[in-house]
Amino acid sequence: MNLRNTIAVALLCSAAIVVAARDARAAAAPSAPRDITAADNPAGNGTYRITHGPYLQGLTADGVTVVFTTSERGFSRVEVRRGGTGGIRTCVSVKDGLVAAYDTANAIRLDSLEAATEYEYRIVSTRIDSFEPYRVTYGESVTTPWYAFRTPDPAARSFSFVAMNDIHDTPEKCRRLLENQPLDSIDMVFYVGDMMNYFERPEQPYESFIDVSVDLFARHKPFAVVRGNHETRGRLARTYDRYIHNTPEGRYYGFYTFGDTAVVMLDCGEDKPDSHDVYAGLAAFDAYRLEQVRWLREVIRSREFRRARHRIVLLHIPPVDERMAPQDEALVSGMMEWHGNVHWGEILLPLLGRTHIDLMITAHQHSFHLLPAMKGVHDFPIIINDNRSAMTVRCDGGGVHVKVTDMDGTVKLDTTFD
Ligand SMILES: [Fe+2]
Repeated sequence: MNLRNTIAVALLCSAAIVVAARDARAAAAPSAPRDITAADNPAGNGTYRITHGPYLQGLTADGVTVVFTTSERGFSRVEVRRGGTGGIRTCVSVKDGLVAAYDTANAIRLDSLEAATEYEYRIVSTRIDSFEPYRVTYGESVTTPWYAFRTPDPAARSFSFVAMNDIHDTPEKCRRLLENQPLDSIDMVFYVGDMMNYFERPEQPYESFIDVSVDLFARHKPFAVVRGNHETRGRLARTYDRYIHNTPEGRYYGFYTFGDTAVVMLDCGEDKPDSHDVYAGLAAFDAYRLEQVRWLREVIRSREFRRARHRIVLLHIPPVDERMAPQDEALVSGMMEWHGNVHWGEILLPLLGRTHIDLMITAHQHSFHLLPAMKGVHDFPIIINDNRSAMTVRCDGGGVHVKVTDMDGTVKLDTTFD
């Protein structure tokens, strides 16, 4: 079936075209429709289906990115409506005038949303059976159930999230840690790096942590990945941005505000110098770290950052300074041997002085440490989380509450920073 004449582009928003709902329905209905529900047909039985997701990324007060894959190349769109009622808008991705199509990976931005509002979305995707220069032939369509999410309230006085890290391709660990966390009451999840050992198979991010996330929360609440050094390794590392969409701009590092809490995500790069043999001349992380520091300098000057009541920094590799040695001599001397830790210590810690950071959350060392604020070096506490614990962080009028729980449910830390 040829749909060229049935799709009417009605309205252009900044990152998505809204297609008139009636025409979108027509687009999803070939002459002999075989609409199926993805959730009802997970095995597919040879039919066109959603294979991973949907999962939410880059949630802001006015938008969110819906990410998913299909079993074959198709044309995918996302329908969105206000909770339970209201008109349906159909959003697609557009780049350089071309509507995204003939692909299996999809990341569709829903924008022009209202803050503090319940929405529902569903995927409608149609297989493309052949894509000739002057004739596109569509096939079977798939429609998912509606999934609910809520846009953040800029006036909110509390924000809560779960953070965990160093899962290293163990989805059962990821599941167990998530199941011990209050996923119903938090706003989102941050994966603070090294969710994979190195990226070698296209299915790996799904198998390692994305499918588990979709199963437990990610259709309704977003996650972000604060990339670790291991996720920069492997022959597919340069394709990770097809899976992870932390910001609408497409960067891994970024800055979120949720109510009166500001969250900075930094992208650590590698642990060894760029010139190390194992990178084979293909690493340029020194310049990338400096790029982030220049960006962060502007963020710190921004109204949103200055107005925030709470400020959290997330970074996989902990920054180190030799003056921290009295806090934990063995830990600090070990970190001083690694270029990544030392470089972040040199370029980041001086910048963050006097910026009233409440807490920095890091990872990477595979051992748990709480480094209390150290005046003139790091004027804020640094948590180094281990590889078998997750934490819930609640920012509210009482301060920043942190509860760290390990895989067995044992509480490792339960404290408030104010
Ligand atoms: Fe790491």
